[in-house]
Amino acid sequence: MGKESNLSEYRPIRVALLGAGSVGSEVARLLLEQKSELAARVGAELELIGVAVRDLKTKRNGFPKELLTTDAESLILGADIVIEVMGGLQPAKDYILLALNSGSDVITANKALLATHGSELFNAAEQVGAQLYFEASVAAAIPIIRPLRESLAGDRVKRIMGIVNGSTNYILDRMDKSGITLEAAMKEATELGYLEADPSLDVDGYDAAQKAAILASLAFHTEVPLEKVYREGITGVTAQQIAAAKRDGFVVKLLAICEFIEADDSGSEGVSVRVYPALVPRSHPLGSVDGAYNAVFVEAEAAGRLMFYGSGAGGTQTASAILGDVVSAAKRHVAGGPGLADSIHANFEVLDMSRVKTRYVIQLEVKDQPGVLAKIASLFAEHGVSIETVEQGVLGLSLQTASLEIGTHVASDAALAGVVQALKSNDAVQAVSSFIRVEGL
Ligand code: HSE
Repeated sequence: MGKESNLSEYRPIRVALLGAGSVGSEVARLLLEQKSELAARVGAELELIGVAVRDLKTKRNGFPKELLTTDAESLILGADIVIEVMGGLQPAKDYILLALNSGSDVITANKALLATHGSELFNAAEQVGAQLYFEASVAAAIPIIRPLRESLAGDRVKRIMGIVNGSTNYILDRMDKSGITLEAAMKEATELGYLEADPSLDVDGYDAAQKAAILASLAFHTEVPLEKVYREGITGVTAQQIAAAKRDGFVVKLLAICEFIEADDSGSEGVSVRVYPALVPRSHPLGSVDGAYNAVFVEAEAAGRLMFYGSGAGGTQTASAILGDVVSAAKRHVAGGPGLADSIHANFEVLDMSRVKTRYVIQLEVKDQPGVLAKIASLFAEHGVSIETVEQGVLGLSLQTASLEIGTHVASDAALAGVVQALKSNDAVQAVSSFIRVEGL
């Protein structure tokens, strides 16, 4: 049999693991428990030669003691494949560069590092013909990197809309299903261990922005610096907004959007990469992604609409994506030849948020007097924004204050932001209670 002859012909492939946290321990477990299956799939044995940790004294279950080391550099230099699951920018970056420069393939789950120093790492890999794999960096178990890098490489991606942060999806889903406040839902997410050690990474949209930068660079063959990703988190989302959304058949989701924007009178073509909470119709495939689940909705010219759904976090789930990359890297060692080369040949301009065309729903408190609605409508007209829906209600027991909810037609984000500014400084408006974009219509 072919696989048996391969196994006897090819020397074991040496795998080094950097990091022994919840992901690292699962990667080690799977590598050891599935050793013979993996060997059969690869055509060579995968030998876990060591696990680099910061402190040997920390109690770790499930790791053979003799594999643990604090000498990451020596471990890296003795490996064919290096798996980095330690997180953080440093020393992860230096370790990955050391591995790539010595010709080893690297597998990483480090979205922050890729989004911040990705081009430096990919250049280093290209210089020596090594490979950098990163399926686990976005939405953990969901295969989305390989589909963008390979399956859709012959197509033109137009737009990606992703729910790529599980903890904020959990929080928004709890607010939606149980009508609880943001604070109460955040408390639950914290108790369940869903939020990062620094919750701002999740609730302020940094984690989603890093993932958006990675997805956009692959989808549009373009370098996307993290600082060009427009970002708003979920801390301004109110129970009142969620209730209004529910009444109107929408749900609030934190979206990571990567979109190709055609040239128009206001400027040249380019890509927009952005993260913000938005109203999504409940009937949209993303509208039913609940709990801490992730999903990535892709629209491509020839393929049409695709949806990738699953667990976006967790030790075992992330380890699944890493093991897939390990098998790919190891097969390349056995078969030889060049691997994947990522291309940023298109290098489109990353456009400012003002170029995005979207819709808003704006909630206002206004004086309930003759002529107020006309005044407000004229503000929209002055900014070239067309109103689609208006709903008026009475606020509390006061007969002098009315609530208005105004939905707009599609307009440039710059025009919509201008309307909100003008409303805030108009005498008839007592408060702009909220404004939120609408996506997926
Ligand atoms: N904090 C992330 C989330 C998990 O909530 O989805 C890993 O990216």
